[in-house]
Amino acid sequence: MSEIKTIGILTAGGDAPGMNACIRSVTRVARHHDLRVIGVNHGFTGLIEGNFTDLIRSSVSNIIQRGGTILKSARTPEFETPEVREKAYEAVRGAGMDALVVIGGDGTSRAGAAFGDQFDFPVIGCPGTIDNDLWGTDFTIGFDTAINTALESIDKIRDTADAFERTFYIEVMGRTSGFIALDVGLSCGAEYIAIPESTTTIESVLQIFKNQRSTKRSNMIVVAEGDETGGAFKLAESVKEQTGVDYRVTILGHVQRGGSPTARDRILASKLGAAAIEGLLAGKRGVMVGEERGEFTYTPFLEASNRKKPIDAYMLELSSILAQ
Ligand code: F6P
Repeated sequence: MSEIKTIGILTAGGDAPGMNACIRSVTRVARHHDLRVIGVNHGFTGLIEGNFTDLIRSSVSNIIQRGGTILKSARTPEFETPEVREKAYEAVRGAGMDALVVIGGDGTSRAGAAFGDQFDFPVIGCPGTIDNDLWGTDFTIGFDTAINTALESIDKIRDTADAFERTFYIEVMGRTSGFIALDVGLSCGAEYIAIPESTTTIESVLQIFKNQRSTKRSNMIVVAEGDETGGAFKLAESVKEQTGVDYRVTILGHVQRGGSPTARDRILASKLGAAAIEGLLAGKRGVMVGEERGEFTYTPFLEASNRKKPIDAYMLELSSILAQ
């Protein structure tokens, strides 16, 4: 029999579509096992402040289709300080929590690890970030929605790029990783994809103009915000200096974080939320739940956040062949 009777749940860091579906799954699977569920508002900030709300089955009604997070999110750098975590621990124990489920990205995993280690307290994580940059899961919750949202915009930009026979540089999110750019780039038929995991040289971008079919007039260059060239504006200017090719830049920005989650994200969030509760009850702690090749996995927090997940190099190669 598990000692866990009451769990806390929070969402932290950049919100991701599907976080609500995950909150719903965690809450309802926990209630299915007769656990009490306490929602922590505003991520680790709410944990420090004791900003809690009880969650019952009806608290999570009608949220599976909603973007954002009903529990709100926050970035809480002060949580890196042990004394601050001490304050959070007092609030957690005061509320009667026996375990914590944290939904978020790499910062959330690190915070979960630090809290769990300091107080020998059960913490389990669900990977919620549009960046897909966590080790131990093929996909993170929110990634599929983000790439589809970006793609919808890029398809529209392609129309105007074609009408004016222009070159567009589209900057997408992803922080230091290029997963969003790679998937979006391949699926929008980008002429070039600039990501931090591969070296972007001005010469390689110039090749697309040199090799271009004479009938081809518009170009879409997808740039990850973390690309070593410094982003879409800088890359576009450097190319223009050498070619004279005029350009337009679109920075898609936070639109990529919003919107109703896709079916894929709702399903992933529902499965991983359930796996988090089942894992906790089976004694797992200090780990992030993931899904790899259809199997649930439990990866130590620091491995999930610190180990670099590789991109699929073949996709990059294929996109450049397909763009010719
Ligand atoms: O981690 C998710 C993410 O959207 C990144 O892609 C991006 O770099 C960052 O968060 C932006 O953070 P903020 O909303 O705090 O500016």
